Amino acid sequence: MVATDINKRAEELRRRINHHNYLYYVMDQPEISDAEYDRLFTELKRLEDEHPGLMTPDSPTRRVGAEPLAAFVQVRHPQPMFSLANARNEQELEDWRRRIGKLLGDAGFDPAQTAYVTEPKIDGLAISLVYEEGRLARGATRGNGEIGEDVTANLRTIRSIPLALRLKRGEAPPAVVEVRGEVYLPLAAFAKLNERRAAAGKSTFANPRNAAAGSVRQLDPQLAARRPLNIWCYQVGYNEGLDFASHWEALKWLKEHGLRVNPLVKRHSNFAKVVEECNAWEARRAGLDYDIDGAVVKVDSTELQRVLGIVGRDPRWAVAYKFAPSTAITHLLKINVNVGRTGALNPYAVMEPVMVGGVTISQATLHNEDDIHRKDIREGDWVVVQRAGDVIPQVVGPVVQKRTGRETPYKMPESCPSCGSRTVRPEGEVVVRCPNKSCPSQIVESIKHFVSRGAMDIDGVGEKLVESLFKLGLIKNMADLYFLKPEDLVGLELSSSLNKQGKKVPHRLQRRSVDKMFAALAASRDRPFSRVLFALGIRHVGSINARLLAGRFHDVDALMAASRDEIASVEGIGPIIAEAVREYLEEPHNLETIRRLRSAGLRFRLAGGEAAGGKLAGKTFVLTGSLESLTRSEAREKIEALGGKVSGSVGKGTDYVIAGEKPGSKLSKAQELGKEIISENEFLKLIG
Ligand code: IVH
Repeated sequence: MVATDINKRAEELRRRINHHNYLYYVMDQPEISDAEYDRLFTELKRLEDEHPGLMTPDSPTRRVGAEPLAAFVQVRHPQPMFSLANARNEQELEDWRRRIGKLLGDAGFDPAQTAYVTEPKIDGLAISLVYEEGRLARGATRGNGEIGEDVTANLRTIRSIPLALRLKRGEAPPAVVEVRGEVYLPLAAFAKLNERRAAAGKSTFANPRNAAAGSVRQLDPQLAARRPLNIWCYQVGYNEGLDFASHWEALKWLKEHGLRVNPLVKRHSNFAKVVEECNAWEARRAGLDYDIDGAVVKVDSTELQRVLGIVGRDPRWAVAYKFAPSTAITHLLKINVNVGRTGALNPYAVMEPVMVGGVTISQATLHNEDDIHRKDIREGDWVVVQRAGDVIPQVVGPVVQKRTGRETPYKMPESCPSCGSRTVRPEGEVVVRCPNKSCPSQIVESIKHFVSRGAMDIDGVGEKLVESLFKLGLIKNMADLYFLKPEDLVGLELSSSLNKQGKKVPHRLQRRSVDKMFAALAASRDRPFSRVLFALGIRHVGSINARLLAGRFHDVDALMAASRDEIASVEGIGPIIAEAVREYLEEPHNLETIRRLRSAGLRFRLAGGEAAGGKLAGKTFVLTGSLESLTRSEAREKIEALGGKVSGSVGKGTDYVIAGEKPGSKLSKAQELGKEIISENEFLKLIG
């Protein structure tokens, strides 16, 4: 390609990647597969690597890569970042409306004509993004409202923050615009992060806000990039060249220019609706994947905002309707343990029931022994508990001032609460385990894992049913599920309760539930090999490792025949996982489970198209001429097993053309398009 063509292509790729980033991260509506996205990204990266002169500062390849900083530079905000006055209940919200109504009335406006906007009050970290000529020039924390810290390199790693504003064809960007928003860590990511930190023996974050703040105020952008931070934008700050008649218009402008605005933000012309919506936010709270601590009400009109002005640090035109706090203090009665499917003893707190963020809780996770000791949590302590949305409640720490001296420091049990076996804590690990492979708790948990969503996804068999079937002796392992007979189940008494007269009412399994269960079991026979491998519950083999193993060994026989070293040599696997796999496969009862699952018709070999994470993932091959050691369909099988695709014709999307004896016109087409042409031997080498 000539220089101008290369430049054009790079521009085109950047435009397309930015567009797909926007659809994926901002709109949550991806239009292309991850593999297609990766292809665009890899092509751009290659062009830029080969022609460094092409690089632009807002290229999507430049999100991560900045070097660690020695310290943050302080920056003055172009306009101070204010805070919000609080309203703690409906009465205080109503008081606010009356106060501003009077001020507006005195200034000659009709208060009844005021429109309002309601938004979630995100519990994260406030930041300011400055775009100059449409390009992200600087990102800073709020700091003290006047002066914050320059955290541009870290904010650039957040995929939903555009490095350049989305502009319409021919649209000129404003010379300067400051966008304000709240950076947060999604709750699921927060829970995972804490689990990982606890497992590594590191201290856990008390809440998602601290985790987000810790990630943004991180001197090494590479570390920040590993946290899946996100943002909701809620305000246009300082700007040159924009003029909004209302907040609503400003939010619309933000959305149109690629910034992420919460889709549930609403405009109301009636204050009763505002109150209703604030309560709706409180009801929504538990189901969100981000933490909110209230709803924000803003006067919509820019003119009325100006009239109302600011007192101290709080604008009069906005108010935060705060929810019940998501922390509370209660009495920790006892620390119990659950035994997980890998035998890990998971401690949790049993507490006097307490209302936290509108929900009553009586249990909270405690991660592991070291975490309990680091926080110095004792049985009998008064503790601070915290709930963030859907995440399991956590014990933040003890209220030391309330100690009486009767609290007892915690020790993990020396015998398994389920089977009584002596527990062990392997050197260098933070987890205490039950070593007994036939421990009932471990078996029940492993069956629950087997039927769960990410594994075999048998939705007709829930956790409760697994527990009941196990207790009744109808299943002793996961394979037994496939050998149940409907007639043994219909009418089965699972549990009972007492009616108003104190009479026992049995709950029996209905025909309909049994039919649903068998339909779900039948459907699960089609799950791909990698899912089956994951569902077995081999230690350290999560869904990604299962895909890697399936992609390399293709079927369970090859995996069983593989040595520890062979397994360890799979990219991404390594010796610890390999050891766990070998250990699992050496256990006679596991082999028996596999044999029975196989006879039940589950997939223990790779089917076409599987192994999305395989070596040839995203690569498209075209075959031409006859091959020597392979038939065409064998070649196709091998390519597909490694995640690649085979296409019938050479085109733009072709990555490799395999040329055998007497190739056809596809070869000349490939030469014309400058595609990579390889021989059969080179292909065999490529797939190892
Ligand atoms: S508006 C009037 N809108 O709450 C300008 N702030 O207590 C003040 N916050 O520092 C900001 N969600 O960090 C606004 N939808 C939202 C918000 C929000 C969260 C935070 C922000 C601010 C703090 C004030």
